[in-house]
Amino acid sequence: MKKIFRLPVLLAVTMAMMTSCTPNNTDTIAPQDTASGNQALENIITRMSVRKYVPGKTISADTIETLLRAAMAAPTAVNRQPWQFIVVDNRESLDSLAKALPHAKMLEHASIAIVPCGDLDKAFEGEPSYWIQDVSAATENLLLAAHSLGLGAVWTGVYPTKERVTAVSQQLCLPSNVIPLAVVPVGYPDGEHLPKDKWNPAAVHFNHW
Ligand SMILES: Cc1cc2nc3c(=O)[nH]c(=O)nc-3n(C[C@H](O)[C@H](O)[C@H](O)COP(=O)(O)O)c2cc1C
Repeated sequence: MKKIFRLPVLLAVTMAMMTSCTPNNTDTIAPQDTASGNQALENIITRMSVRKYVPGKTISADTIETLLRAAMAAPTAVNRQPWQFIVVDNRESLDSLAKALPHAKMLEHASIAIVPCGDLDKAFEGEPSYWIQDVSAATENLLLAAHSLGLGAVWTGVYPTKERVTAVSQQLCLPSNVIPLAVVPVGYPDGEHLPKDKWNPAAVHFNHW
């Protein structure tokens, strides 16, 4: 092939390779054990679900407000903030929620629970609505804030399991436009809890699958 034709052919082959759908999730991101002194990253990476709490230890009203402020700082579609939060600090209510929810027995020892809910009246009217994403982002902020304050918490799933939504809605007297997404028991951690290392380079794909 004449030299003048070689360059375009080479370019075309390179372009085709770049846009082809051959898997390319090679180990190009190096694992990192620490967040190199960055406190925000350290907090994200070391957060873990905590399911055992020091019984009877109270959480101050200021701390609860800090948790809720963090939750409400979450991103939200069209800034609709379609959330409501129920703070449960009554022993009887915590125990009856524990009875109603098969995977939330740790509520029996939690100091409080926060129930992030979607408010369908405030949600973006577009179809589909983004309230689940908005309230999930708020819930994650809540978990991160709890961890940063030395508290332990865990996301226990409610929505979309119908029986759990009904049980929590009934117990907390929620109006029909308010849907509980999760119940988050919070307390002071009892014992040692270690974060899981979930870093998985095989789950990362550059530009295409
Ligand atoms: C949508 C959702 C529902 C969950 N439901 C429960 C639950 O009902 N009970 C529970 O103990 N943990 C629950 N978890 C917590 C997960 O088990 C936990 O996040 C996962 O094992 C990873 O562990 P880590 O949070 O310590 O990183 C839930 C988490 C999510 C995101």
